Amino acid sequence: MTDRLALDLAPPPGGQILHHTDRATIIWGDCRDPQIIASVPDGYGLLCTDPPYGVRYNSGRSDRFQEIPGDDGSVDWPGVLAQWVGTTGTTRGLAPSRHVYVFGYMPDQLTGPLRLGSAAELVWDKLDIGSGDLTLPWGPGHELFTFGVHVKRASDRAKSAGALSARLRRGSVLRYPRPGRGRARHSNEKPIPLMRDLIESSTSRAHRIEDSDLVVDPCAGSGSTGVAAVLSGRRCFLVEITRTDAELAVQRVQAAERIADLMTAA
Ligand SMILES: C[S@@+](CC[C@H](N)C(=O)[O-])C[C@H]1O[C@@H](n2cnc3c(N)ncnc32)[C@H](O)[C@@H]1O
Repeated sequence: MTDRLALDLAPPPGGQILHHTDRATIIWGDCRDPQIIASVPDGYGLLCTDPPYGVRYNSGRSDRFQEIPGDDGSVDWPGVLAQWVGTTGTTRGLAPSRHVYVFGYMPDQLTGPLRLGSAAELVWDKLDIGSGDLTLPWGPGHELFTFGVHVKRASDRAKSAGALSARLRRGSVLRYPRPGRGRARHSNEKPIPLMRDLIESSTSRAHRIEDSDLVVDPCAGSGSTGVAAVLSGRRCFLVEITRTDAELAVQRVQAAERIADLMTAA
């Protein structure tokens, strides 16, 4: 009962910081809130996020998981993420020529709004068949997502800035088992090894944590992006609108911070 009451609470304007350390900031809030968008540090290193897909996708998995807020198609998610990468021609938001990963949205939906110089469709192969629509003979075994290079200025995009060199080329299918059945804490929980692969491919860590790249996830769910960032020696800035998920993200990120602290001390 307490959980259901907490789920129904709307976050306060400007959000509420639930957790703040050298490694992680976690805000219970609405990522469309201009005060929250303005609070993300300028020139951050990676946008890595898994927004609602706008399809009320719940995979027929009973009522163990609540419906995801913002999943009813009423929110223009590429438009929201455009504000997180920063406005045209400024250095606000994501640093120039840095990367984005967005689950559930395709390059043609994101290239314009997020001003991507180059983009690719990637596949997460879950090595397993989900339940999905049980009337179909094919069960979902993968999710699509987009990788892109954010280029601030149109003139730079015209000069092909943002095109990546060939030495970074890898296959577009990433194979990682989904979080085990019954163990997933969120209906769309992403595996930590997958998130670490993305983060480590697109950011760097430094000797001093304050110099390591900052990874931003405005739709954090249970905090998988943050856990992966912290375990990889990066910093994270997370926002989640559902109070119970935001609290879960705090618990998981705190556990990752204890491991990261131990690894740093060793
Ligand atoms: C697809 S799930 C993310 C799951 C996450 N990748 C994980 O591993 O747990 C999307 C999340 O976005 C959250 N969300 C929806 N609308 C939001 C908003 N306006 N601001 C912040 N979070 C929002 C939902 O509550 C949900 O937890």
